[in-house]
Amino acid sequence: MNGGLRLTVLGAGYLGITHAACMASLGFEVLAVDTDGGRVDELNAGRLPIYEPGLQDLLRAGLGAGRVRFTTSYAEAAAFGDVHFICTGTPQQVGSDHADLSQVQACVGALGPLLARPCLVVGKSTVPVGTARRLAAELAGAGAGVELAWNPEFLREGSAVADTLSPDRIVAGVTSGRAEEILRQVYARPVAGGARFIVTTLETAELAKAAANAFLATKISFINAMAEICEMAGGDVRELAQVLGADPRIGPAFLRAGLGFGGGCLPKDIRAFVARADELGAGDALAFLREVDAINLRRRARTADLALELAGGNLAGMPVCVLGAAFKPGSDDVRDSPALDVAQILTGMGAKVTVYDPAALGNARRARPGLGYADTLAGAAAGAHVVLLLTEWPEFAALAPGSLSGTVARPNIIDARNVLDPATWRDAGWTYRALGMAVDPATARQPH
Ligand SMILES: NC(=O)c1ccc[n+]([C@@H]2O[C@H](COP(=O)([O-])OP(=O)(O)OC[C@H]3O[C@@H](n4cnc5c(N)ncnc54)[C@H](O)[C@@H]3O)[C@@H](O)[C@H]2O)c1
Repeated sequence: MNGGLRLTVLGAGYLGITHAACMASLGFEVLAVDTDGGRVDELNAGRLPIYEPGLQDLLRAGLGAGRVRFTTSYAEAAAFGDVHFICTGTPQQVGSDHADLSQVQACVGALGPLLARPCLVVGKSTVPVGTARRLAAELAGAGAGVELAWNPEFLREGSAVADTLSPDRIVAGVTSGRAEEILRQVYARPVAGGARFIVTTLETAELAKAAANAFLATKISFINAMAEICEMAGGDVRELAQVLGADPRIGPAFLRAGLGFGGGCLPKDIRAFVARADELGAGDALAFLREVDAINLRRRARTADLALELAGGNLAGMPVCVLGAAFKPGSDDVRDSPALDVAQILTGMGAKVTVYDPAALGNARRARPGLGYADTLAGAAAGAHVVLLLTEWPEFAALAPGSLSGTVARPNIIDARNVLDPATWRDAGWTYRALGMAVDPATARQPH
């Protein structure tokens, strides 16, 4: 079914490792390249440098079957692959909103001159519209039969394996029938399983990813804007979201108010989209995304202010427990983590913050060495005057007040993800606060 195609994956991060292991599980022979030799050694030994449910087993199965391996050699990759997937990072540029394309550029720059036989180079990284057309021109000089396609990736950390093996849609941005045919061979199994295969131009493929992220970010910030109104007016954003979500034209997904989005994708992708639109002279069309970003960041400041309120207006020297470091549950990714940002703000207010997370402590310690950490939930909560639930890991959502009551110094909890039952905590004697919920309408903050 896979036509004997041999695949390479260039860049072995969250996306690349997942893609490599999943393609191997579909029966392809896969060679993955990363410039980080230590990472390559770990991966060849079956050790996953990231936390992603189900991926460790898939990787080991692929290694065991001899269908996937890792290298630092582009020469090996160029000789091996019929299809080369670009999976390198595109972080935000330091000091600007633009995407930093240096990893993608280095990848194409290394691969192109080594290509000595017909092949398809397929971009999966998230890039500003126009990048693919430029790279295609660059690769056109690489030799006969070398072609570029763009196939943006929509996987979500925490469900990356399922999203790769059973995606909703596969976008094939192509400039020829041959490129489309090769991508149809690569994705034959997911398509047979129900994934829609949508053929587009290179530009539409790039825009598809940017637009999808912009829409999701807007939906999250919309409900968080409603949360701000609820806090002022005495509404309850959970009830409001139920009402909105019951309308099939709106739908309930991505309408949970809370601390907002973070991670290595949404924030930098919407900023890069706005920056690219400005370059294209279409900045006005995406001006609303700046407000989406601002609403999102305001939730972090508001959460820290709630902690200050619960601490009686002074956090100096006060022990505070932060539950969560990953930007979302099911991941150890702390890139632009709302939880760590709030922990940092609280530390700046003088609090003695102790962070606990079931998977992301290692990354958090490296990214924010100035914060306090505990290896257990109980250790983080010991003596705390305020507990903040900032990442909705299932074990936090399942917390019972009794499990913490004897541990904390004061029973104050901020549910910044709206996953706890307010009545349960209040009945147990806790002061419970959440984003998007005034204490009660009578005490809602009044406009001045
Ligand atoms: N992480 C996600 O959930 C996700 C989802 C969809 C799309 N994306 C997009 O996929 C791309 C990769 O994201 P990620 O989260 O996997 O990034 P990452 O930072 O985890 O991984 C990038 C990897 O590329 C390696 N690398 C850097 N330069 C290289 C080069 N020249 N050649 C080979 N390897 C090189 C790095 O060592 C690193 O291991 C980004 O464009 C991102 O926006 C990510």
